[in-house]
Amino acid sequence: MTGTAAKQHFALFARHPHLAYLDNAASTQTPQAVVGAMASYYTGYRANIHRGVYELSALATGRYENARGALARFINASADEIIFTSGTTAGLNWLALRLTQKFTSRDNVVLTRLEHHANLVPWQQAAKERGFSLRFVELTPGYEIDLASARTLIDENTKVVGFALVSNTLGTISPARELIALAHERGALTIVDAAQAAAHLPLDVRDLEADFVAFSGHKMYGPTGSGVLFGRREHLRRLEPLFYGGEMVSHVTYETAEWAGIPERFEAGTPAIAEAIGLGAAAEFITGLDLAAIRAHETRLTEYALEKVGKEVKIIGPADISRRTGVVSFVIKGAHPHDIADILDKHGVVVRAGHHCTMPLMRYLGLTGATRASLGVYSTAEDIDRLVEGVRYAKKVLCA
Ligand SMILES: Cc1ncc(COP(=O)(O)O)c(C=O)c1O
Repeated sequence: MTGTAAKQHFALFARHPHLAYLDNAASTQTPQAVVGAMASYYTGYRANIHRGVYELSALATGRYENARGALARFINASADEIIFTSGTTAGLNWLALRLTQKFTSRDNVVLTRLEHHANLVPWQQAAKERGFSLRFVELTPGYEIDLASARTLIDENTKVVGFALVSNTLGTISPARELIALAHERGALTIVDAAQAAAHLPLDVRDLEADFVAFSGHKMYGPTGSGVLFGRREHLRRLEPLFYGGEMVSHVTYETAEWAGIPERFEAGTPAIAEAIGLGAAAEFITGLDLAAIRAHETRLTEYALEKVGKEVKIIGPADISRRTGVVSFVIKGAHPHDIADILDKHGVVVRAGHHCTMPLMRYLGLTGATRASLGVYSTAEDIDRLVEGVRYAKKVLCA
């Protein structure tokens, strides 16, 4: 179920039937199934988890752990490899802090030119503290990851290769298997930022052979403040927790403490229980709609958008439809992206404008910003037509 049929699951579209919501790369909307799952926690069985011996707490614990199971099935992982986080940013920061503890000035971390600030700034900070260097895989003129560049950069001193599976600015799908194979040949760990992939492409961590994968709930029809960090069991067993406190320990004395098993040792304190339950419901919602069908729908619409919008503007992203998702960024010569977005908003078309948290990428591409339309399961050809009309009007007003 995609397009107009999918809209019926989202209360927001009943309230705003004429809204062309094309800012899904920033945040998707929330279906009733997710709202309902969270509401039933608050109204039906609210209690803290893993602590109470009473029935309500056992029920809440069961639902929380069921959600972990749903996320594990969603990405083909085991439940003990799923750590609930507050989002992609949290997962990536934790990795940048903990993985690099023993790195020295001989070591390097390889990222790409298209990373979101969330997969760049934490590494910059760790590099400043530990003295290792950062390297960046170049892009091709067609806005794709240049594997030849990756081959020259990833060497025996590379400890981590981290990359966005899908670029939030360009829509580019990274050649994940190739990058991961290159990294593993050199003994480096791999981190996949799947924030822009989880709701749009089937994600199988076993098939990818990724060591770590991070993604956010609010970009996959789930709640804000929720997310997942997947780590392969053998890595999680060796990693130091980021936070210490209740729930993550098995034994504590006044002098020292022993950690609980995985993943509990990585979830200190009371977690975002309702959000985790909502995120589990979001994973089941996506699976119920069928990710392959979502991908097919969004690909068809992206093709339509590239053709129609591409006649009016310069598209900043790959032309090859098989190498991109429905993140469609564009520029209009002589028009500021914020002005374009403002005019589109008055036409009931919601898009994002600016640097999209990829300031270095913008500079690399010689741009100051771009306007970005991004698709979701409920996007329709009418949404794209409205976008095109709005863009034509913006050109008239801004470029006259
Ligand atoms: C590719 C990518 N990585 C990381 C993030 C950060 O996600 P969050 O803000 O949910 O932590 C985003 C958000 O836009 C993103 O698009």
